[in-house]
Amino acid sequence: MIRLTASDEDLARAAELLEHGELVAVPTETVYGLAADASNPDAVRRIFAAKRRPADHPLIVHLPGMESMTDWAEDIPYSARRLAAAFWPGPLTLILKKKGTVADVVTGGQDTVGLRVPGHPVALKLLQRLGRGIAAPSANRFGHISPTTADHVVSEFENDNAVAAVIDGGPCHVGVESTIVDCTGPEPRILRPGMIGTERLAMVLGSRPEMAGEKEGPRASGRLASHYAPTTRLELIECDALSRPDSQAAVLALTSTPDPGGFKVWTTLPADPVAYARGLYAALRELDRCGAERILVQRPPATAAWAAVRDRLERAAA
Ligand code: TXA
Ligand code: MG
Repeated sequence: MIRLTASDEDLARAAELLEHGELVAVPTETVYGLAADASNPDAVRRIFAAKRRPADHPLIVHLPGMESMTDWAEDIPYSARRLAAAFWPGPLTLILKKKGTVADVVTGGQDTVGLRVPGHPVALKLLQRLGRGIAAPSANRFGHISPTTADHVVSEFENDNAVAAVIDGGPCHVGVESTIVDCTGPEPRILRPGMIGTERLAMVLGSRPEMAGEKEGPRASGRLASHYAPTTRLELIECDALSRPDSQAAVLALTSTPDPGGFKVWTTLPADPVAYARGLYAALRELDRCGAERILVQRPPATAAWAAVRDRLERAAA
């Protein structure tokens, strides 16, 4: 895997690799994506092989701007246009009725397509240079923790020549995957919570969108009970359970919780959901590497602002 920078020269190289059907890992504001030219079915097939992802799990198509929506989707409802106008470029994916020209391999055979304009200057520059959509799931092996740095991507795919290059755009600013809103039904519904929360969606939509039930709606890998998981067993625990020392456990606590001592590793993240989300995946990767028998994560507050973080932690623990 070649490491590229965000220089114009390197982005030209990345664009050329994508045009030739190669895979390039690209920084976005949420997590790094494993990108292929979305109009090239053979290139998109390579993503599934590299990730070892089941073929019926659809990918998100990343666009250079909102005006490209109509190249990929049709019958776009007014609510979806409003959400796109309010939050793109940004961490929001819209599920829309796909156009007939969109390859089945991109959508996992479904008649809908996931679209988003990423809010990262490097991803946007690359997309504008290419002038077309790139299909990109998170750049990790299926079920694994999403990467938020170029080093994370390298550690996922280093023994594999399936990925031609990674563009180093620094650490991702948001840190957890985009909010996914299904706009194909009578009312928009949230398929995956993200850092654009229900309240902000409601301000644009005029009413609070519901969370889709786990069993309904199209298959979405980020919605599987077990996902975003480290190799070490992870347990979500209450603050008071951390007063019993456990030398085999690595802990991820909130900074407000004092370290009682007696744990193999004690790591903290800020007790603020935005900063916590930004640091979460790097922290989980580090705890996964420290040789502990289990990872104990202090359960964050049960408030709306923590919904995306709680969702990822629950799936990592499942
Ligand atoms: O922030 C993100 O969304 C990142 C960055 C790279 O953009 N991407 C990401 O991709 O998280 P991935 O593949 O790991 O998760 C995308 C989710 C999956 O759960 C997938 O099933 C769902 O989006 N998805 C994509 N197209 C869909 C569709 N047509 N219907 C329902 N779900 C869809
Ligand atoms: Mg993923």
